[in-house]
Amino acid sequence: MITIKSEEEIALMRESCRIARDTLDYVGKNIRAGMTTKEVDELVYKYITSCGAVPSELGYEGYPASSCVSVNEVVVHGIPSDRVILDGDIVSVDIVAEKNGFHGDAARTYLIGNVSEEKRKLVKVTEECFFKAIEGLQAGVPLYNIGNAVQTHAEANGYGVVRALTGHGIGRSMHEDPAVPNYGKRGTGMRLRAGMTICIEPMINMGTFKVCMKNSDGWTVVTADGKPAAHYENTVLIKEDGVEILTL
Ligand code: MF3
Ligand code: CO
Repeated sequence: MITIKSEEEIALMRESCRIARDTLDYVGKNIRAGMTTKEVDELVYKYITSCGAVPSELGYEGYPASSCVSVNEVVVHGIPSDRVILDGDIVSVDIVAEKNGFHGDAARTYLIGNVSEEKRKLVKVTEECFFKAIEGLQAGVPLYNIGNAVQTHAEANGYGVVRALTGHGIGRSMHEDPAVPNYGKRGTGMRLRAGMTICIEPMINMGTFKVCMKNSDGWTVVTADGKPAAHYENTVLIKEDGVEILTL
C-alpha cells in the first residue's frame, strides 16, 4: 500500500530520519580498520537507543542485528559478525531507526584507510547515482525515472546495477509500496505524489550486476563475481516542487 503522509506524520518522519542520519555520522567518525563488523553494530545499537529510538532491523523477519554491515563483495544485508574490517576495505552500513511509530532508513559506504582508486571511484559514482536520481524529482514525475537516472550513470561508468533488490516506500512500516528499482525506462511507472516518502538506494557493483544469496545465513547478498559493491541510501520526501532529503 502507498501512503501519503500528512504534515504531522512528515514531522515525525523528519525526527526518525534525523536520528538515522546522526547514527551514520556517528558510525563514520568511529569506524576503523581492526574493528569487527559486530563492533560496528554495537555502535549503531548504542547510538539509536540513546536517542530514544528503536533499531527497526533488529528482529525484522528474524534478522539478528541492529544494522547491515556489508564489506567489499557483500552488496547488502551483511550480518554483523567477527569479520575484521581491514585497511583498504569499503564497508556499507545500512540502518533503520524507529521513533513515534515512523521509520527512517539510510545507508553509507565508508572508505577504510588506504582504499584503491578503483574502489573510491565506485563509492563516489554510487553516491552520484542517488543525486542524479533526485534531479528534477517532484510530484508528477514517473517513478521509473529514478531507476533510469541511476542506471544511466552507473552503466556509463561500466558498473553493474543490482536488479534483485530495490528501494521502497517507508513510513509506519519499514517497507511500503512502491518498490523503487535502480533501473528502468524513463517516462514509465506511476506518477509520484506529494507526501510520499521513499527510500532511494543505489546498489552498484564494480563488475556484473548479478548477485547471490549466501545459503549459510539466508541474508548476506554477495556479488556473483566477488568484485566489490557499494550502497548509498536516503529517505526522501516528495513535494509539489521538489524533494526533501530527510536523512541528510
Ligand atoms: N535497511 C534495509 C533496506 O534498505 C533493510 C534491511 S533488511 C533487515 O531496506 F533485515 F536488515 F532489516
Ligand atoms: Co531501504
